[in-house]
Amino acid sequence: MKTPLRVAVTGAAGNIGYSLLFRLAAGDALGLDQPIILQMLEITPAMKGLEGVAMELGDCAFPLLHDMVLTDDPTVAFNGVDWALLVGAKPRGKGMERKDLILDNGPIFVDQGKALNERAADGVRVLTIGNPANTNCLITSSHAPDIPRKQFMAMTRLDHNRSMSQMAEKTGTQTAEIKNVIVWGNHSSTQFPDIRHATIAGKPAPQVINDDGWYRDQFIPRVQKRGAEIIAARGHSSAASAASAGIDTVHTWNSGTPGDEWVSMAVPSELGSYGAPENVYFSYPCRCKNGDYEVVNGLDFDDFGRDKFKITGDELVEEREVVKNLLGVKQLQG
Ligand code: NAD
Ligand code: LMR
Repeated sequence: MKTPLRVAVTGAAGNIGYSLLFRLAAGDALGLDQPIILQMLEITPAMKGLEGVAMELGDCAFPLLHDMVLTDDPTVAFNGVDWALLVGAKPRGKGMERKDLILDNGPIFVDQGKALNERAADGVRVLTIGNPANTNCLITSSHAPDIPRKQFMAMTRLDHNRSMSQMAEKTGTQTAEIKNVIVWGNHSSTQFPDIRHATIAGKPAPQVINDDGWYRDQFIPRVQKRGAEIIAARGHSSAASAASAGIDTVHTWNSGTPGDEWVSMAVPSELGSYGAPENVYFSYPCRCKNGDYEVVNGLDFDDFGRDKFKITGDELVEEREVVKNLLGVKQLQG
């Protein structure tokens, strides 16, 4: 039996947490032979609810769930952790953009970055899900000078999965046949979901779809605004699909991407050679191997794509400017 890994989940009594924790404990992210200890963080008023979630986790009798820690103290939650999934943050409501949350949610990630720096295991890998995810990731990482920037990532896998789902629906195929979509930039309504290098059943996706009007005027805005579409329909932001994308991200980061395939991950912008602004977390195509990842560089754009790439990069710089007083000392170093 492997040694248990310590996995922190913040916002553990929230909507995403309610789906994410059970899938982590079932082994969907880290493997069916990997025991875990869940270290769950909440704010003090939500601790009672968290106790209920922990009771349910216990009642599942998951063989891989070796222990649970429930706390409202980040230094306890992040003590010795191998993975940290930063979910705890306010969700947006109808009519808001994700960046409207920045001043409410940004400060959460200052203390969490410091606590991670102080307490996490050396190789900790950190996934930021709370919105605006890319900029919260930058804030967290900037307060953790002893943890390399590359060990932090913001989640754009939900956008990646949404893109695959829309393409499958359009072409009457299964998502398993769709490979190498790219989501560039920010997890926001400026993100650029790009099908130029994607394939459907082994053929170039633009050729199979053969409908540039659909791609530009329906597909791209739909993926960009899918979060808002769900809020309008459900009255709450996406939760199970967000948790599923979190599971996919950890699973891929940990166990690798098959063959030449890639997935979308928001990582330090300097790892890409595409001219993205420096010192932001930017979503790129990434390949994963042996628990690490690398950005797939050298892909080309047309003029349309180049413009979209710039728009989303500019927005990340604007967001960084808004939170400049929340950024720590570590920026590009590390
Ligand atoms: P929720 O309101 O149901 O749950 C959030 C939880 O976080 C609450 O239980 C709250 O008490 C807790 N929390 C707040 N501040 C905290 C802190 N400082 N420390 C620990 N816990 C804290 O919201 P949700 O639906 O679970 O969404 C959580 C976040 O994830 C939101 O910001 C949402 O916009 C974002 N989100 C991101 C993606 C993505 O693709 N990146 C997808 C969906 C949702
Ligand atoms: C999503 O993409 O569903 C989340 O970021 C939630 C939101 O506010 O859109």
